[in-house]
Amino acid sequence: MSETGPGFRIAVLASGGGTNLQAIIDQAHGHEAGPGGPVVEVVGVGSDQPTAGALERAREADIPTATFPRDAFGERAVRDEAIADWLEALRVDLVVLAGYMQLLSADFISRFAGRVINIHPALLPSFPGLDAIGQALEHGVSVTGVTVHFVDDGVDSGPIIVQRAVEVPRSGNRQALEEVVRGTEHGLYPEAIRMIAQGRVSFDGRRVRIT
Ligand code: GRF
Repeated sequence: MSETGPGFRIAVLASGGGTNLQAIIDQAHGHEAGPGGPVVEVVGVGSDQPTAGALERAREADIPTATFPRDAFGERAVRDEAIADWLEALRVDLVVLAGYMQLLSADFISRFAGRVINIHPALLPSFPGLDAIGQALEHGVSVTGVTVHFVDDGVDSGPIIVQRAVEVPRSGNRQALEEVVRGTEHGLYPEAIRMIAQGRVSFDGRRVRIT
């Protein structure tokens, strides 16, 4: 932990158990992004699900939380505007989606253009959308993996930042594949966040450059 330099402020949006959030808390929050780099700070965790395990993990780490249940806002656009206002008040440098199971409106994405990232449990552009692991098993691929990408207004379609391959167990056992994919996510996501915090990631159209 370092007290030097301005922090790199991130907020995480999550709908579920929050194992990726936990990996970010353990491996990035309060740590320098790299030698002499900014300290990464998770300044807020938001969820559409008031009972999400991710919120509990945030509270345990003394990170402020906020909930945005759909029925409290009526329309998605209104809810997304409230989330965007909350993120702006937190002065976030980066919005990290970690199992956030809602689509974000085009207005939201344009307010945070180039500053929203997501993790997906497949090697995009293969198997976008729901149940990527089930899709990979169903398709019979021998290699799948994990992708961290910028979010645009499509589904899992934004510029790819980093990917890591994972072998599908010969048994085709879903639980075994889920475990290895999840473990890979937990290493890759904090790593990608640290690279962004260090200012090493830029993109031009679909092409992401890492220096
Ligand atoms: C992860 O598999 C991630 O790839 C996907 O949603 C899942 C979230 O899991 N986007 P967790 O809540 O971080 O445990």
